[in-house]
Amino acid sequence: MSILISRRNVLKAGSAIAALQLIGNGARAALANGKLRTAHIGVGGMGGGDLTSIASHAKVEVAALCDVDQTRLDAAAAKHAQAVTFRDYREMIAKLGDKIDAVVVSTPDHTHAPAAMLAMLAGKPVYCQKPLTHEVFEARQLRQVAEQKGLVTQMGIQVHSSVTYRRAVAMIQGGVIGKVSQVHAWSNKNWGYDGGAFQPTPQIPATLDWNLWLGTAAERPFTQGVYHPGNWRKLIDFGTGTLGDMGVHIFDTPYAALELTFPRWAKTTCRSPSGIGHPEKNIVEYEFPGTKYTTNSLSWKWYDGSFAPPASEALQLPADLKLPGQGSLFVGEGGTMLLPHVAEPVLFPTEKFKDYKRPELENQNHYHQWVDACLGQGKTSASFAYAGPLTEALLLGVVANRFPDTKLMWDAAALQVTNLPAANQLLKREYRADFKVAGLG
Ligand SMILES: NC(=O)c1ccc[n+]([C@@H]2O[C@H](COP(=O)([O-])OP(=O)(O)OC[C@H]3O[C@@H](n4cnc5c(N)ncnc54)[C@H](O)[C@@H]3O)[C@@H](O)[C@H]2O)c1
Repeated sequence: MSILISRRNVLKAGSAIAALQLIGNGARAALANGKLRTAHIGVGGMGGGDLTSIASHAKVEVAALCDVDQTRLDAAAAKHAQAVTFRDYREMIAKLGDKIDAVVVSTPDHTHAPAAMLAMLAGKPVYCQKPLTHEVFEARQLRQVAEQKGLVTQMGIQVHSSVTYRRAVAMIQGGVIGKVSQVHAWSNKNWGYDGGAFQPTPQIPATLDWNLWLGTAAERPFTQGVYHPGNWRKLIDFGTGTLGDMGVHIFDTPYAALELTFPRWAKTTCRSPSGIGHPEKNIVEYEFPGTKYTTNSLSWKWYDGSFAPPASEALQLPADLKLPGQGSLFVGEGGTMLLPHVAEPVLFPTEKFKDYKRPELENQNHYHQWVDACLGQGKTSASFAYAGPLTEALLLGVVANRFPDTKLMWDAAALQVTNLPAANQLLKREYRADFKVAGLG
């Protein structure tokens, strides 16, 4: 029985308030007009794709669009003429109130937490792009508020719902290679910047509201081609480097399959910090406590930039095997599984697994899953309850790139690095005065 049907029954019994409590904030949306009225923050780049994918659900009505770049806002508005438009998400959430039911956040990483938190404080379910946040503390706070308010949430790791990644999870959990002792994961993309300071561009493009783009981050002059669009990924104040960008997709499958929690420690091998960009190449090592799918503990190694992919022989794979540019490798007691990024898993040794029958699964639509859950049907697979700890683990590795070759010992319960007080300063940042949000910086 769906949650909405149970609501009707309760209403018959004359208790509307009890019904609303039962169905939760997400499903309450269906009461207004039978459609989920969505508001989208950041509608260019990936935000444009998110908008199309969410709007393709028959029960979605795109009600509001927000972007700090007028060109991008206009392009999205041309496809959704009924939507009201804003430049400032704070104004959009405050003004629209009950006229919107759910919020999608597709901005650069440093704006995920403040926008998602404001939406959740207003009682809205949220679809938020990956990585969930820019800081470890923000990930913890978003998860807790989502849980306290019982909101439907989903992080934008759409490949989590792909058949190949779900099959890889099923194969590992079905014990195909036995208990796993090591994970290697890599991306040869380079979302780092090893250079120095930037020269300001005399004029900010007339279509861009630079102050709103900076948002919670400290003021600085605009430089063409350095921040907006896209290149903010490389910079420590706005993005999370290759680890945050591609790592979150590639970490996701081993993290989910092995049911990992919080790492015991993280250590990064990279150049010394510049205070500007993330390093262009990193090796990040973690140790996780054991789970029912791993040996007593699990060692995890990430490689990016020109450190990726690692050498086949170092992974005990055939020397002539050309590894994909992005992917992961599970080393188990009874074999090895290679998972190229969004492709079918490959088992080694080949001869041992030649008759292995793969689980049959179907693709799922990650976006529609969130819309359906907002309307009271089913659950999301990458809610903030899952995405929060995954993002915390990932971001601890990003913090570690500021202290090369140092193991950051992690106390997850206390949200603290126990052996290096300076690292704790990087778990949370102070927001600019005009952009403060309750529960965050
Ligand atoms: N899931 C995926 O496969 C995937 C792929 C690409 C990007 N992403 C994620 O999507 C997000 C955006 O990445 P992108 O490559 O599209 O970046 P981008 O810079 O190209 O686009 C960001 C968009 O947000 C707008 N914006 C910036 N600040 C804003 C604010 N304060 N309020 C409203 N709008 C704002 C920009 O004008 C732009 O339209 C990032 O979190 C990124 O990690 C996810």
